[in-house]
Amino acid sequence: MIRRAVVKGVGHYLPKRVVENAELEKTVDTTDDWIRSRSGIERRHIAAKGEFTSDLGAAAAKAALDNAGMSADDIDAIVVATSTPDLTFPSCATMIQNKLGMTKGYGFDIQAVCAGFVFALTNANALIVSGQAERVLVIGAETFSRIMDWEDRATCVLFGDGAGALVLEAAEGEGTNDDRGLLAFDLNSDGRHKDILYVDGGVSSNQQTGFLRMQGKEVFRHAVEKLAATAHTSLDKLNMTGDDVDWIVPHQANLRIIKGTANRMGVGMDRVVVTVSDHGNTSAASIPLALSVGVERGQIKQGHVIVTEAIGGGLAWGSVVIRW
Ligand code: UT7
Repeated sequence: MIRRAVVKGVGHYLPKRVVENAELEKTVDTTDDWIRSRSGIERRHIAAKGEFTSDLGAAAAKAALDNAGMSADDIDAIVVATSTPDLTFPSCATMIQNKLGMTKGYGFDIQAVCAGFVFALTNANALIVSGQAERVLVIGAETFSRIMDWEDRATCVLFGDGAGALVLEAAEGEGTNDDRGLLAFDLNSDGRHKDILYVDGGVSSNQQTGFLRMQGKEVFRHAVEKLAATAHTSLDKLNMTGDDVDWIVPHQANLRIIKGTANRMGVGMDRVVVTVSDHGNTSAASIPLALSVGVERGQIKQGHVIVTEAIGGGLAWGSVVIRW
């Protein structure tokens, strides 16, 4: 018998305001057709003034707790993946802990940009299998609208705000691929590529919040190559292939990247959860959002094998295989 981290609940939250591509045509030199054909994005949600990343994260966490039939008191630890915390410190996780009314346990943030949720899942799993926690809330929450240069058409049309959350709980497994829970992981980063996707501000450099800067074509090239590779690395650890996968739940950055990765994995698009059209790229929130929407749509069911994969600034990238 081995200890596994099993998904007990999932939930998400999206800010009320929806911005259609047509609305962006009025503010930057772009077209609905360009955005759709290059990225697959049709609309995105944007947080209201005074609505913070921790508000989005806390709402998603409450939805996940409800889905699990648990309360905040049942949780030992909160791991939040975000690059857009409310403040430089304290962590977004402690802000969410407070908003959930939790006065015990501990929380901390993980920053691996768009790959953040994959890193957060891996770390939450480590807390559970090492016996340091029984139940962990894993949250991806972002307000990327706040780090957009709204005059840069190459980036501002691509991103959106949102949050998603999972509740993981310790369970005894047999140690086989049939166990429910998180089964395999692959994490990577390579700081040589730090200049192709970054924010041009920070505490220790210029004391500004800064704006997101991206060499889109370069990131695209790395994404197509690295995402299928990391997914294969995780599946190889289980002697699984694309044929064993019920759903790919990819980071939702670009429909062309999502299709290219599925193709390289030999998985048809009928087995890929796609939400990028409605959410845009919500960075670390995109995978838990897509998991939650995938369950809501009736696509993801208990027992299914899910592969998540993501890449973002750093570059940092990785994948996780989950039996739901
Ligand atoms: O989540 C983190 C990871 N991020 C990603 O995965 C993003 C990866 N990259 C991408 O998704 C794509 O590279 C983009 C969607 C960002 C861009 O697509 P692309 O096919 O690589 O286009 P491009 O950057 O080569 O731009 C093509 C043309 C350029 O004009 P010229 O140089 O051909 O005259 C751009 O100036 O499109 C122009 N352009 C636009 N036109 C209308 C750039 N942005 C826009 C825009 N509207 N919003």
